[in-house]
Amino acid sequence: MADPITPEALFRRRREFLQNAGLLAATAVVTGGSLYAASGGGARRRAETFAGPAPQAPMPTGPDGEQLTSLRDVTSYNNFYEFGLEKEDPAALASRLTLRPWTLSVEGEVNEPRTFNIDALTKAFPLEDRVYRFRCVEAWSMVIPWQGIALRALLDAVKPTSRAKYVVFESVVRPEELPGQKAQLLPWPYVEGLRLDEAMNDLTLLATGLYGKPLEAQNGAPVRLVVPWKYGFKSAKSLVRIRLVEEQPATTWNVVAPTEYGFFANVNPSVDHPRWSQATERRIGEAGRRPTLPFNGYGDQVASLYRGVDLTRFF
Ligand code: MTE
Repeated sequence: MADPITPEALFRRRREFLQNAGLLAATAVVTGGSLYAASGGGARRRAETFAGPAPQAPMPTGPDGEQLTSLRDVTSYNNFYEFGLEKEDPAALASRLTLRPWTLSVEGEVNEPRTFNIDALTKAFPLEDRVYRFRCVEAWSMVIPWQGIALRALLDAVKPTSRAKYVVFESVVRPEELPGQKAQLLPWPYVEGLRLDEAMNDLTLLATGLYGKPLEAQNGAPVRLVVPWKYGFKSAKSLVRIRLVEEQPATTWNVVAPTEYGFFANVNPSVDHPRWSQATERRIGEAGRRPTLPFNGYGDQVASLYRGVDLTRFF
């Protein structure tokens, strides 16, 4: 019997057609840029290939009925500089990162600091499914089905003090396992931050899985941040520490290249990166480009956080 006409079936048929026509493995030229050039690493423009298979099972579609990015692309095209500069380095070297035992501490301006064993964390809070658009500052994007816990649930549990204004996220430091740390590609640990109200927003997720499986190291196992209305670099991976603080923290890319990467990093098609446009994006797995949406399409839920803020100055 013929496939029912679902986005999934259409997607599969389109891919079969492209495969037969020999088009799917064609290279796509990067029209965005590389974050790393700003840190003195030199712009490396490479041709890329995407030949990921269709997802194995029917999955929910993206926020606007968009097709999910294939599991293969999500797990093989990554930015994770602890493993190296190239998009394929994280998947190739992922097995070097020891994922257990692993603890995540939540500390600083809180009344009840706690340290969670990672497996206890996912039992202590409800696990949620969230399909989000994910927009990298390099002007490519994906649609990813995550599993995780609402960051707000965790923050409520540690009871922030009245002085807590920002939340700091710190990734793991293990130069023996992470060649990009040994090579000192960036200052480590990788640090990101949010204002407390951003961290408390319903959309903000601590992800522990994707496509119904535990995260793999290249995606930030065992636990990483996901902030879908901000550029991907805010979504710090392989977290070991969350700290609530009074002052706006120094964050990795903002320290390395302050004119290129702001603290807020809200997806904004009308504020270009100094070296490339942010008006459009290349959806991984698709031909052509899509217009980029303000706040990555999540304005209904987050624009009010920035009322009265000049988003060209606070980019
Ligand atoms: N977290 C750490 N610790 N190190 C990194 O290099 N890269 C960031 C972000 N989190 C990064 C990180 C960037 S630039 C992006 S676009 C996303 O992770 C990529 O996430 P993905 O590989 O799961 O798509």
